[in-house]
Amino acid sequence: MTRIDFDRYESFYARRTGGLRSSVMRDLMAVTARPEIISLAGGLPNTESFPAMTLAKITHDVAMEDCAAALQYGPTEGLEETKRNIVKVMESEGTLADSDDILVTTGGQQGIDLVTRTLVDPGDPVIAEAPTYPGAVPSFSSFEADVIQVPLDDDGIRIDLLEEALDRLEAGERRPKFIYVIPNFHNPAGVSLSRERRLELVALARSRGVMILEDNPYGQLRFEGEPLPTLYSLDDDDNVIYLGTFSKIISPGIRLGWLVAPPPVLQKLNLGKQAADLCPSTLAQKIVNRYFRDFHWRDYVEKTTAIYRRRRDAMLAALAEYFPPEAEWTQPRGGFYIWVTLPEYLDTTDLLALAIEQEQVAFVPGAGAYMDGSGANHMRLAFCAVAEDRIEEGIKRLAKVIKEQMALYRALKG
Ligand SMILES: Cc1ncc(COP(=O)(O)O)c(C=O)c1O
Repeated sequence: MTRIDFDRYESFYARRTGGLRSSVMRDLMAVTARPEIISLAGGLPNTESFPAMTLAKITHDVAMEDCAAALQYGPTEGLEETKRNIVKVMESEGTLADSDDILVTTGGQQGIDLVTRTLVDPGDPVIAEAPTYPGAVPSFSSFEADVIQVPLDDDGIRIDLLEEALDRLEAGERRPKFIYVIPNFHNPAGVSLSRERRLELVALARSRGVMILEDNPYGQLRFEGEPLPTLYSLDDDDNVIYLGTFSKIISPGIRLGWLVAPPPVLQKLNLGKQAADLCPSTLAQKIVNRYFRDFHWRDYVEKTTAIYRRRRDAMLAALAEYFPPEAEWTQPRGGFYIWVTLPEYLDTTDLLALAIEQEQVAFVPGAGAYMDGSGANHMRLAFCAVAEDRIEEGIKRLAKVIKEQMALYRALKG
């Protein structure tokens, strides 16, 4: 086996790469792709339910009727038709957006990256929820943001604690560049920001002169209850940057998302996009646009949401049946995730190694959702990607590992 000399390149790396952190979910993907593993780790949309004939027809039609344009570079901000379709998607959630305020991105992930690169200098404070989306961690760390995490509960980010965090920063003459929140069916916590807190958050951000970065990949995937207004729609002061994506309503393989921002900020973000990748994929946009033209996009969302609802129900039932009484978990009303809290003495990173090794089941350890590596007694369980019977089996196996570790701890502690 050839030895790789990692040290050789050390002097070439930019200083900031020293703080780069990988997303825990990305790290896990190789392990969880093994067929013998029941993976409750990945937040993978159920692409199996997308009709192959639909994709075949759309791609065929794009190739036969629009081939040259589909293979060409396009505008950095995205095609006009794509932006009109994005306006429709946002409208269906009760949010009015102007297509001139939209930048089509390479997935919602690029939105997080562009906003961070555009607004954050090294050491600048950014506020995120605790826990936060593990995929945002590499973006925040690559631009050397000083991330301050504010706990959430069943109603989303705690506004009282957010105010305290803002007070502390203000006392040091600092102001966060933005507050990053996932108001609907949070990744990883599964909770949603209540209506009252949405109003409070928008008012607070406005009064403190802080922007909000609203990340809403899951809003369309609601199992029950009434949709809540987006922060973007509640704000009348151009204070919110909104992120959306086609990943959960069509497919993540399409790699298309968008951001909506006040025009001056949008201009800067556009420059960042030019630097990153010139423009979003024209081919992917043409496919999406034809899909919107020739099919009812809401039908597919309803179909997959019904699948996710059944899987959520299966996971909640299995948790109630198999998990120890000391464990607690959230009750998501949409989206992909359940957040589990275990006794303080358990470390889910250690637990994951045992769960994979002994029981062939995987999840995301909580620490990946905290910038400071805390959160070790939490785990994220994704119900989106696994059929109901496998969910039950996975939870049963996981419960076994947890109970064994709890028994071991009690035995050692006498
Ligand atoms: C909260 C959140 N933001 C952003 C993304 C990125 O999604 P994509 O880049 O596929 O649009 C995800 C994906 O899981 C997510 O959960």
